[in-house]
Amino acid sequence: SSNQMWGGRFASGPAAIMEEINASIGFDKKLYAQDIRGSIAHATMLAHQGIISADDKDKIVHGLNTILLEIEAGQFVFSRKLEDIHMNVEARLAEMIGPAAGRLHTARSRNDQVALDFRMWVKEELQKVEVALTSLIAAFLDRAEEHADTVMPGFTHLQTAQPVTFGHHCMAYVEMFGRDRQRVRHAIEHMDESPIGAAALAGTGFAIDRHMTAKALGFREPTRNSIDTVSDRDFALEFLSIASICATHLSRLAEEIVIWSTPQFGFVRLSDAFSTGSSIMPQKKNPDAAELVRAKTGRINGSLIALLTVMKGLPLAYSKDMQEDKEQVFDAAESLELAIAAMTGMIRDLTVRADRMKAAAGSGYSTATDLADWLVREAGLPFREAHHVTGRAVALAEQKGCDLAELSLEDLQSINPAITAGIFDVLTVEASVASRKSYGGTAPSEVKKQIAWWRARN
Ligand code: ARG
Repeated sequence: SSNQMWGGRFASGPAAIMEEINASIGFDKKLYAQDIRGSIAHATMLAHQGIISADDKDKIVHGLNTILLEIEAGQFVFSRKLEDIHMNVEARLAEMIGPAAGRLHTARSRNDQVALDFRMWVKEELQKVEVALTSLIAAFLDRAEEHADTVMPGFTHLQTAQPVTFGHHCMAYVEMFGRDRQRVRHAIEHMDESPIGAAALAGTGFAIDRHMTAKALGFREPTRNSIDTVSDRDFALEFLSIASICATHLSRLAEEIVIWSTPQFGFVRLSDAFSTGSSIMPQKKNPDAAELVRAKTGRINGSLIALLTVMKGLPLAYSKDMQEDKEQVFDAAESLELAIAAMTGMIRDLTVRADRMKAAAGSGYSTATDLADWLVREAGLPFREAHHVTGRAVALAEQKGCDLAELSLEDLQSINPAITAGIFDVLTVEASVASRKSYGGTAPSEVKKQIAWWRARN
């Protein structure tokens, strides 16, 4: 049988395989609430403009509200024959209220309808991500405050570089997730324009009021160009780009947690709540949650590339290719929400092993730069020469199998006679971090300022 929405032009129904490739109801039913809200706003505007009667509008609005309840109660029967959420809802409305249902689609197309529904969904999702990031940042601020004085090794090339504090390291992530949150806020602003009323692509001859629907649906204003409106999926691409960058941050953090929780590093201990055991090796405690966060990044990045690739060859305006936008965004959104929540839990729960961190911070000649800086400051050496002298001190310590701070004054003076006992004040890890008071540096006094700056903004 031919289609009840466009049966006029068609003598027979679609091939089974056509129905299968064409239908999106399996995933776009997620948009039911946005679809119904959008339709109510549209019908209300049509009646306000005298395009449909107040009586029909009332029937439509009442019917749509009933459908919302049916869907939420799990009583709604979705049909693949009806392709997508838009036609499923409209067909049910026709069943309920008869011919008045046919007036809802006046001055509208599924092209602006889906652009509206999906944009509202993405906007709401971004609002959730913003809240989730705020919790993650709060978790880091608490840990940073607690560990503003906890010394750990800072790394470059994953080789011990200079001592830093765990609080400072935490605050690096606060900066990263803070930028992600800013990107989320900007994206919400970018997409805060209502597509409804662009119709199929050219606008409509009906005297609609797009400002009215925009306002009713919580948008700042209507979109300006009807062709762009139904062709545009930048809001989805922006969501996926932001999600990919954020997931990349989460993945780097996950990687650090995996490394830190090894017996070899032993910087942190994961809570039982965020680790798993082994079915064969009784001693194991595995960082599965961190590993899965790291892996979700692959899915999320994949979704971004998938949608970029779908969009890149499309002529204006709408093409059915664009139906493939939703699964990528839904999957990425679910993964991102999970990853942020799991990471927030892990950060809140993990035990910091300050003794292990401090021992590691002191090994690997991490205060060599402090020795060189002392020679510049106190003995007036040019930095390059101080670097050379320090290199010889490191070689001597290595030869003796001791730390820089364990070399005797005589040893140090044999390398450069200008060295005095004052040198020992800068060779400890605590002295090293305390001295790095430059703006944004690792000194506990600086880190506490960074924490206060963020507390005022979180
Ligand atoms: N299910 C479609 C989508 O997700 C709705 C828009 C259909 N428009 C059309 N002209 N066939 O993109």
